[in-house]
Amino acid sequence: MSDAIQIAVIGSGYVGLVAAVCFAEMGHQVVCVDNDESKVAALQAGDPQIHELYLNDLLARHRNTNIRFTTNLAHATLAAQAIFIAVGTPQSENGDADLSYVEAVACEIARSLTSYKVIVEKSTVPVYTNEWIRRAIERNGVDHLLFDVVSNPEFLREGSAVTDFLHPDRIVIGADHPRAADLLSRIYAPLTSGLYYQQPTAIVGPCSAAQTPPLLLTSTKSAEIIKHASNAFLAMKISFINAVSNLCEAAEANVEQVARGIGLDSRIGPRFLRPGIGYGGSCFPKDVAAFRAVAHQLGTDFGILSEVEKINLQQKKRFLNKVRSALWTLRGKRIGVLGLAFKGETDDIRESPAIDLIHMLLAEGCTIVAYDPAAMSRAAAAIPATPNLTYAADSYAAADAADALLILTDWREFATLDLPRLKQSLRYPIVIDGRNLFDPETMTQQGFTYFSIGRSPAYPATKPKPHANSVL
Ligand code: UGA
Repeated sequence: MSDAIQIAVIGSGYVGLVAAVCFAEMGHQVVCVDNDESKVAALQAGDPQIHELYLNDLLARHRNTNIRFTTNLAHATLAAQAIFIAVGTPQSENGDADLSYVEAVACEIARSLTSYKVIVEKSTVPVYTNEWIRRAIERNGVDHLLFDVVSNPEFLREGSAVTDFLHPDRIVIGADHPRAADLLSRIYAPLTSGLYYQQPTAIVGPCSAAQTPPLLLTSTKSAEIIKHASNAFLAMKISFINAVSNLCEAAEANVEQVARGIGLDSRIGPRFLRPGIGYGGSCFPKDVAAFRAVAHQLGTDFGILSEVEKINLQQKKRFLNKVRSALWTLRGKRIGVLGLAFKGETDDIRESPAIDLIHMLLAEGCTIVAYDPAAMSRAAAAIPATPNLTYAADSYAAADAADALLILTDWREFATLDLPRLKQSLRYPIVIDGRNLFDPETMTQQGFTYFSIGRSPAYPATKPKPHANSVL
């Protein structure tokens, strides 16, 4: 395709593994390192251990040819021209990013640096991390001419990670030295030149040979801020539409109509304006907190981010109130729950608002029967076992004899459920939809009482509408 670069990727989590496999797909020689022996053994056997479209196929295509897995960091970095650091940057107690894994890896890289290498921050890190990595390596006795540190933030989403990586909206390279920028540009050349998209086996997506992704060269600090600011902005967009949805409920307007009306303004755009039970996942909650923390450390008041978090928390509480107002008392009620993952098409339950709501409902004394197409084993491992929470084989089994059905994750398969069958399964035909998967009119025509976000409750045509302040 173009010149193959020797790459080491440290950390085989979501970003590290997807990046490593995609670099291999782009024609580079990749070694992916993790200190978890069982994970490396699974990867060597071709099991990616995460639920992500195309990952199995690409792993099968390139394993033992373009990509290898090891626990030996020193060995992996020896031949590498570029070393990507993609280890976790979890949230510490005071909200800022815990960079101890990044520091440990930087020190370990320093011990095996004998020829010039570019060290790349791929993990989401606060501004100035680049400086700290550089200092940590120099403190370990490495001459500054032997390495450069660059920032190359990743913008992939879970559930569409491979496509997002190979068809990015933009590639950001924060480099303060031309030789480092040049190596990174060569790594991404298969995408920016369009050559990758001409391959017959290329993963199909929005980019093509005619429409290649733009490459943005910035300073390292700007690149670090671009990543945090992007996630914080998207989280703000979600909290904004959630706040609007609350207003719509109060005014008896329809948030879906409002979101469409706002989103058609090309300056705003339609994406990330879906109201719901709040954002979750391993990125937005942590990154909003970290961005606010770093702003604070640098003497900047970024109060809007506290408001974004506040709305996000309230959204779950509001949903619980919605359930309460639909069912009156909650103790002893049998609730069917559809969705445990933090969003559809993934098995990830980290910071999932669905899991938070399960805890809240259990605390209220409900009995829950839950179903998720991919996240049930992770949920069962994370939520302490209780006879009040069981897992069902499918959506209809979760709804079976339930007093109401709650939709907590936007899995595509939930939106195409057989509504007459669902109604037959339920004890009472009440659906409380935290993701607005259904059209209220369709639901009432099918005989459901239907509650959703930012839209008025909808009642079956045969049923008289209740007086204001009563709900059923
Ligand atoms: C997010 C960003 O979208 C990626 O660009 C970024 O690379 C990634 O974080 C990261 O920093 O690693 P991800 O967490 O995989 O990706 O998932 P999103 O699709 O962004 O969804 C995050 C949360 O927001 C989910 O809980 C989702 O349900 C919620 N959401 C999203 C809404 O409630 N409404 C929307 O309109 C969109």
